[in-house]
Amino acid sequence: MKINKICCIGAGYVGGPTMAVIAKKNPNIEVTIVDINAERIAAWNDEDVSKLPIYEPGLAEIVAETRGRNLFFSTEIDKAIKESEMIFISVNTPTKTYGKGKGMAADLKYVELCARNIAEVATTDKIVVEKSTLPVRTAQAIKSILHNTGSDVNFEILSNPEFLAEGTAIQDLLHPDRVLIGGESESAIESLANIYGSWVNQDKILRTNVWSSELSKLTANAFLAQRISSINAISELCEHTEADVTEVARAIGMDSRIGSKFLNASIGFGGSCFQKDILNLVYIARSYGLNAVADYWEQVIILNDHQKRRFSDNLISALYNTVSGKKIAMLGWAFKKDTNDTRESAAIYVADHLLSEQANIAVYDPKVPAKKVYADLNYLETRSDSKNKDLVSTYNDPYDAVKDAHAIAIMTEWDEFKSYNWKRIFDSMKKPAFIFDGRNILDKNEIEKIGFEYSSIGK
Ligand code: UDX
Ligand code: ADP
Repeated sequence: MKINKICCIGAGYVGGPTMAVIAKKNPNIEVTIVDINAERIAAWNDEDVSKLPIYEPGLAEIVAETRGRNLFFSTEIDKAIKESEMIFISVNTPTKTYGKGKGMAADLKYVELCARNIAEVATTDKIVVEKSTLPVRTAQAIKSILHNTGSDVNFEILSNPEFLAEGTAIQDLLHPDRVLIGGESESAIESLANIYGSWVNQDKILRTNVWSSELSKLTANAFLAQRISSINAISELCEHTEADVTEVARAIGMDSRIGSKFLNASIGFGGSCFQKDILNLVYIARSYGLNAVADYWEQVIILNDHQKRRFSDNLISALYNTVSGKKIAMLGWAFKKDTNDTRESAAIYVADHLLSEQANIAVYDPKVPAKKVYADLNYLETRSDSKNKDLVSTYNDPYDAVKDAHAIAIMTEWDEFKSYNWKRIFDSMKKPAFIFDGRNILDKNEIEKIGFEYSSIGK
């Protein structure tokens, strides 16, 4: 099928950057990204590209180049579906917060709504591409909904999981390690492979069956998350011995079978994918009665929760076993640097724990707005919105955030933190001035020379 028009449902962290790059590399294809969230679409259409709803290095430039040329943002979902030959489903699939599979299974209601919407309005044949992270066999469910519409429209379903990481999404899209396309129909697969073929070598475009494609995505994320939990487990052992986790990571990373990437010990992984995907894997394994498999992967999450908890416990015990009424400045709220995404960020859980110990928290993050900080805390439902507002303040200037603080907790590895005037910060804090470096980004010797009580992960 010749593709002239693409529609992407869901203008989020996946849909936005992916479609921007597809539009950039395929100027002859008209790409329309639609969303039910009118405010989000308005932000994507903001003339000032620095106001795009998501922050991602390099994205604003591509949007500036393609928007209005062959990239469009709209709330007219039905119209875009009707006009397109290819439809990407790129909506959110959070972990269920209710009913069967609560806290474990992916909530597929948004995906199902999309499928029903496509089924209702389509009048011509479509290739439907699942782009959201989904449990294995979701394509089957989408297929069943689409094929039972009673119309004679033909739908081909493809699985095309996204491997981009936030903060490096544009580079990951421009130079992917691989592109994975799962499907039954060779011609549908080739239609999508052609689109990627505009800038990706064909030998990097893998064709598989739908289920392998779906499971590969979950497995990739599970392996990556497992690496972090593995190094974080070793970090705790390092703290009780004379070993230094950075030296251990370097030593093992030089083994080409292990590799050097993704071995940074931290306060624990966050982000919208790792936890959700592992929970999905665990849920699926349990549903087949594969308890040993489920328990194995579940341990990755248990260790990650332990790492977050350990960080706040250590902070409290260093502050003479109480943080009540003390000001703790948190540098960073995003789940990693170079993104304004905060989903599952370790900062949220560490803050929540410290707030339950009656701490006052001051937050500074270069890209996360105040309302997101409060929304994240309110989502946990540990205390009321007004109580969160009483105890948590947010700052636009890091030097204001740390003034009179008893301790600083570094939650995100933003580069700018490294070049702060740490002497000035020390002078403005309560003494002894503590730093808990959850990302191991500061130079211990220099920081201690200034006079700080410094602790980091795995040292
Ligand atoms: C991840 C996958 O990398 C990506 O392929 C997939 O498409 C989506 O999920 P993302 O969650 O955006 O991407 O970021 P990633 O770089 O994987 O980081 C996830 C979390 O792990 C972050 O909180 C990060 O700080 C943490 N991390 C990462 C570590 O703690 N140590 C590391 O060595 C690497
Ligand atoms: P991701 O990281 O997977 O891209 P986001 O939450 O950033 O997740 O984006 C998903 C987007 O999908 C949101 O902007 C949401 O409003 C949109 N969305 C969810 N359901 C629908 C739907 N049925 N129709 C259109 N857009 C939807």
